[in-house]
Amino acid sequence: MALDPQKLRAKIESIGDLPTLPTVVTKIVGQLNNPSTNAADIGKLIEQDPALSGKVLRLVNSAYYGFPRQIKSIQSAVVILGFNKIRTTIMTASLFSSFRKGPAGFLNINRFWQHSLGAAMGAKSAAETLGSVHLAEDAFIGGLLHDVGKIIMDQYQPAIFGPILKYAADKGMLVTEVENQVMNGFNHAAIGSWLVENWRLPKDIVRMVEGHHSPQRYNQDRELVAFVHIGDILARAIGVGNGGDNRMPALNSEIVANFQLNEVFFEKSVTKLIREIEKASEFFSMLTI
Ligand SMILES: [Fe+2]
Ligand SMILES: [Fe+2]
Repeated sequence: MALDPQKLRAKIESIGDLPTLPTVVTKIVGQLNNPSTNAADIGKLIEQDPALSGKVLRLVNSAYYGFPRQIKSIQSAVVILGFNKIRTTIMTASLFSSFRKGPAGFLNINRFWQHSLGAAMGAKSAAETLGSVHLAEDAFIGGLLHDVGKIIMDQYQPAIFGPILKYAADKGMLVTEVENQVMNGFNHAAIGSWLVENWRLPKDIVRMVEGHHSPQRYNQDRELVAFVHIGDILARAIGVGNGGDNRMPALNSEIVANFQLNEVFFEKSVTKLIREIEKASEFFSMLTI
């Protein structure tokens, strides 16, 4: 079975009811990139969406953030967390529900999002372990979104994606390897990056999604793309969730060499990741709501 990637692309791009991010989320992400934004503006925007405000407060008061006192208002959450962390929290709180309304497919959606969350925490832990703490929150968002193209295929092209998943399982292959064969190199990474671009999310996020299986090709946002590539593999290594196949991809050798990934790195980043996951039960329980 070989498909014309051009035709498939056109088919996907013409889907009318693709999942959207709540407008308020897109607005907030845009505002946070604006240097003149202040905490009060961001707080007001979040408060426009009561369901989102509730989820954000629940998350910031969870063990994951570990604040000693309860944070009672969105305004204080923005001030205490800072813009970067609040952006991650908002994306996490809204993303799962955006996809819940879509048609049912073949993927186990809870395990899929567990994998995505695991990869997000893995990407963050890789960034921190490699000394790029300032990129950790962005890497988290990239990890959260990296496989979003699989959900699009699963929910909107199940007649194509179902057999891809089955073939991958039967042959012990990665979904991305089967996609590349069947769709001539057009894979979930390309579909996901197109969706994220459509949501008007920043370019670095688009690149992280697009490049997570081919990080060596990226000069721009090179570190971020690499962190998401590593995070995906770390999540698989410790068995968090399932991204649609059971195999573990190899780390790209150029990335291993460029970032000097050695035993010490793996020990540190895996320990950090396991600790994060242990604290994240509120995040995980949000997946089943
Ligand atoms: Fe992937
Ligand atoms: Fe993945």
